[in-house]
Parts: sequence; C-alpha cells; structure tokens
Amino acid sequence: MKNMKCKLTALFTAAALALSFAGCGAAASASASVAVDNGQQADYTVGILQYTSHSSLDEIAAAIQSELEQQAQAAGVTINVELKNGQGDAATINDICKMFVSDQVDLIIPIATPAATAAAAAVQGTDIPLVYSAVTDPVAAQLAKSMEEPGENMTGTSDYIDTAKILDLVLANNPDTKTIGLIYNLAETNSVTTIEGLRPALREKGIEAVESTVTTPGEVQMAAQNLVSKGVDAIFVPIDNTVASAMSVLADEAIKGGVPVYTAADSMVRDGGLATTGVNYTKLGQLTAQMAVQVLQGEDPATMPVQVMDDGIVTVNTTTARELGIDPNVFDLSGEGYVSVE
Ligand code: TRP
Repeated sequence: MKNMKCKLTALFTAAALALSFAGCGAAASASASVAVDNGQQADYTVGILQYTSHSSLDEIAAAIQSELEQQAQAAGVTINVELKNGQGDAATINDICKMFVSDQVDLIIPIATPAATAAAAAVQGTDIPLVYSAVTDPVAAQLAKSMEEPGENMTGTSDYIDTAKILDLVLANNPDTKTIGLIYNLAETNSVTTIEGLRPALREKGIEAVESTVTTPGEVQMAAQNLVSKGVDAIFVPIDNTVASAMSVLADEAIKGGVPVYTAADSMVRDGGLATTGVNYTKLGQLTAQMAVQVLQGEDPATMPVQVMDDGIVTVNTTTARELGIDPNVFDLSGEGYVSVE
C-alpha cells in the first residue's frame, strides 16, 4: 500500500478562548503560539480531500487552508488540517476517505465532484459532516436534494456558471462561428451539466457541436488533434477535471491548429486557453472554509443552502490571443475591461 503518511498537517493556533464554539472543551491552547503537533490534540481535525492536481484545485485548497487558519484564529480555536491529494485515482481517493473516517475527523472538505462523491459514500453510517467545494451540480451528482436544502449531513459550494455568457465571447470574436468542438469526460457530471447548459444556446445560434470525449488526461491531446483536423471554428471546454489536468497540452495543439479555446474556468485560461467568464476560485475556497467553520460550530449542514458563485469574470490570455492573431479587446463586452493573464 502507498505510504499515506505524507501528512501536510497545518497547525493553527488560537489566541483566545473559544466561547462561541460548541463542544470544544478539550485542550484549547491557552497561549497564542502553542504548537499543536501529533502528541497534542487540536480542538478540531478537518480532512481536506483534493480530487487531483490542477491549477484550479490547487488554488482552492490553498484558499481553504488559509481561510480555516484565519477563522480558527478569530474564533480562538485550534484546527488540525490534513490535506490529501487523491491524484485522480479512485483507489487512492478511497484510501484517503477510509483514513479520514477511521481517524474520526470532525469534518471532511472534498474538493471537486469526484472527491465529494467518494467522501459522501465513505461517511455513510457515521456522523461526519461534509462541506464540499467547487461541486458544479451537487443535485445531479446526488449530493444534495436541492440547492436550498441539501439534506443529509452535507452542504458546500458550487461553481455552476451560465455558459451562454461564454458563447457571447465566442461570437464576439467570430460572429460566423458554425461549429464548436467540445472536449470533456462523460463520467464527470460537472462537465455534463455545463455542456447541457450550453446546448440550447448553441441550437438558438445555429451552431453545431462536435464532440470529442475523453476518459483520462492522456487522451486530451488526441481529442484536440481530432477536433482541429475536423476544422472546428472554436473549442469549448466545460469545468472538467480531466481536461484541466492536461490543459497546457490542449492549448498547445489548438494554438498550433489556429483554433481558439474557450473554457469554463479561469485556471484553464491561465494554462493557455483563450478566454472564459468564470468564478473566483479563491473566494469560493474561502466561502467553503467559512461554511465548514459554521458546521463545526454546530450549524446543521442539511439546512444550509449550497452557495453558488456566479461572478462572470471575463479572463483573457493575451499571449494566446496574440499567437492566434486575435485582439483581446473584442472580449471586453461590458466595456469595463477584463482580467488579462499572459
Ligand atoms: N467544478 C469541478 C467539479 O465539480 C471542479 C473544478 C473546480 C474544476 N475548478 C475547476 C474543474 C477548474 C476544471 C477546471 O468537479
């Protein structure tokens, strides 16, 4: 078995006593700087399960950690945070979930839909709550009964976006767009939901979708080559973890073929895609951590609405735009500018 002891244990100490926290009688450190290590007990242990490594999930994990630290300090408690990366591998993810359950962590924060699904199965029959992060469609993933009242012992944040806005970007650059290539993993409900959201808008504009689905990051290059060779006018990538893990490969192929790639997340634009309107994932991570602290404080996740972030921030990669010979200013639809990355 893999050595799971690569514990990234962040230790957060608190300056004040935690009167506002329910049920934290044990071992609250009296002083600001008492390090809590393996020998000592923190008030709470939170397990974070990051589905895999790609820029966006890395950003979310970092934001969750630092916000938990700040929240703990403000509330005067110690939280022992264990961050594990599932490497996109089902067996590894299950091992991590089992470990969190046998360690009796106080709460699990799974990042991304596949991690949330695995964690939800693992906590069945326990009283460990989940506060998931960046799950695009928790209802479709059967993690919530409804966005307003998720039910069970879990709630979280969603990065569901209005894909029609992305189509506006596509058409702003090329009003004659007739075909759009779609690359995604059918096994990711988060992607299927985003694609389904796009279809009515495509139909309305008379644009044909050309699909090229993948099951692993290793297949993304061929999928890109396939769409380029079919001569699509543009490529669209939903909020797909499989594609995000190979985004720079996709970007290279598309630039070589002269095809603009529109994505549903800003990280994929930073990794070489052309443009997106998406959410701020640092804010989403912070919001997730705040909800987690509320649950630790005794709030019932079953009745805490899933928080959806839909900021619609336009992000454009100006290097990619230059390589494709596109003026990035065509994407300034609101006249208020856009976030530019290189
Ligand atoms: N929303 C995705 C999910 O539900 C996770 C995710 C967050 C993601 N940021 C991303 C996927 C950026 C691709 C690119 O699983």
